[in-house]
Amino acid sequence: MSPYEQIRSELAASPKTWLVTGVAGFIGSNLLEVLLALGQRVVGLDNFCAGKRGNLDEVRALAGPEAWRRFQMIEADIGDAAACRAACRGADYVLHQAALGSVPRSLGDPLGFHASNVTGFLNLLVAARDAGVKRFVYASSSAVYGDDPEMPKIEERIGHLLSPYAATKRVNEVYADTFARAYGFASVGLRYFNVFGPRQDPEGAYAAVIPKWIASLLRREPVFINGDGETTRDFCFISNVVQANLLAATTARPEAANQVYNVALGKATTLNELFRIVSDLVRGQQPELAGQKPVYREFRSGDIRHSCADIAKARRLLGYTPTDGLPEGLASAFGWYRRSAG
Ligand SMILES: NC(=O)c1ccc[n+]([C@@H]2O[C@H](COP(=O)([O-])OP(=O)(O)OC[C@H]3O[C@@H](n4cnc5c(N)ncnc54)[C@H](O)[C@@H]3O)[C@@H](O)[C@H]2O)c1
Repeated sequence: MSPYEQIRSELAASPKTWLVTGVAGFIGSNLLEVLLALGQRVVGLDNFCAGKRGNLDEVRALAGPEAWRRFQMIEADIGDAAACRAACRGADYVLHQAALGSVPRSLGDPLGFHASNVTGFLNLLVAARDAGVKRFVYASSSAVYGDDPEMPKIEERIGHLLSPYAATKRVNEVYADTFARAYGFASVGLRYFNVFGPRQDPEGAYAAVIPKWIASLLRREPVFINGDGETTRDFCFISNVVQANLLAATTARPEAANQVYNVALGKATTLNELFRIVSDLVRGQQPELAGQKPVYREFRSGDIRHSCADIAKARRLLGYTPTDGLPEGLASAFGWYRRSAG
C-alpha cells in the first residue's frame, strides 16, 4: 500500500474535521471533493472574489446529499480575524488555499495582494495556532524561485523575487517557519508548480494556459503562444496536489513538519509540446476540430524561461508519488473542459 492509500484508508476509518480556505476556487474545491468522498467533515471559507458558487454546486452534485451535510460554508474574507477564529474552531487540519493569484496582476495591485496573501495568511495562522489545530498546510508557489537560473528547482535554493505575488508567498514561508520556532506550531508549505484540472477558470486575462488553450481550441478561437514555444513548465495535475496536501497534513514523521516542498510532476514540458498534446487530445475527441495552429506572439515580460521541480524531498519525507502525468491528467479533465467551454 502506498503512503497515500494508507492515509486515505485511515481517514476513511476515522474521519477528521478540515478547514479548507479558498474552497470555492480551483484547488480548494478539488480538496473539498476528495475529502467529502473520504467521509471527512469540512468547513470551507471563501469570500468569492475569484472562486465560484458554481464550483461548490459541482462538488455538491458529485458528492451527493449525504456527504454534502458534512460540509459547512463560511462566506468571509481572511482579512477578518474573527471569521478566521470561527473557521478554525474544532478543526483538526487546515488546508490554506485562499489567496490572490497571478504574477502579472500582482504587479498592478501590491497592496491588495499583501492584504489577502500576507495579512489574511497571518490572521489564519494565528487563529489556527490558537485553536490548537494539528497541522497548518498552506499553498506557496514556484514563484518563490524568482530569478534563480538553476534547474531543477530544489527547495533550499531560491533567487531574487520578481513580483509582489512571489514576495507574499515567501513571507508566508517565513512566518510559518517563525511560528514553528516561536510557538512550536506545526505547518507545511507546498510550493505548487503549474497546477491544472477541472474547475480551473479558463476565462480572463490571467487565466492559466491549459484551460485557456483548450477552451480556445474547442471554440475554434486562436491559441496564442507567448515567445517561441520553447519555454518550459512543470505541469502538475490536481490529483497530485490533493495527494500532497493530505500527506502533508497527516504525516506523523516529525522531520517532515515545518518544511516547504515542491509539489509538481518533476518533468519539464515545452509550450510547443503542450500544444501538440492538447491539440491531439481535442482532435481525438472531436475530429472536426483538427488542423488548428498556434499563433506565436511576443514573450510576456516577467515570465521566466524554464521551470521544473525536483520533487525528491516530497518523495522522501512525505511519500509523495505523483499518480497522473500530463496526458493522463488532460484526458481525465477533458469532459470538464468540454462542458465548461460549451
Ligand atoms: N493554480 C496554480 O497553478 C497555483 C500555483 C502556485 C500556487 N497556487 C496557490 O494555490 C492556491 C489556490 O489557487 P487556485 O489556483 O485554486 O486559485 P483560485 O483563485 O481558483 O482560488 C483561490 C480562492 O481563494 C479565494 N480568496 C482569495 N482571496 C481571499 C480572501 N481575502 N478571503 C477569502 N477567500 C479569498 C478566492 O475567492 C478563490 O476561491 C493559492 O494560494 C495560489 O496562490 C496555485
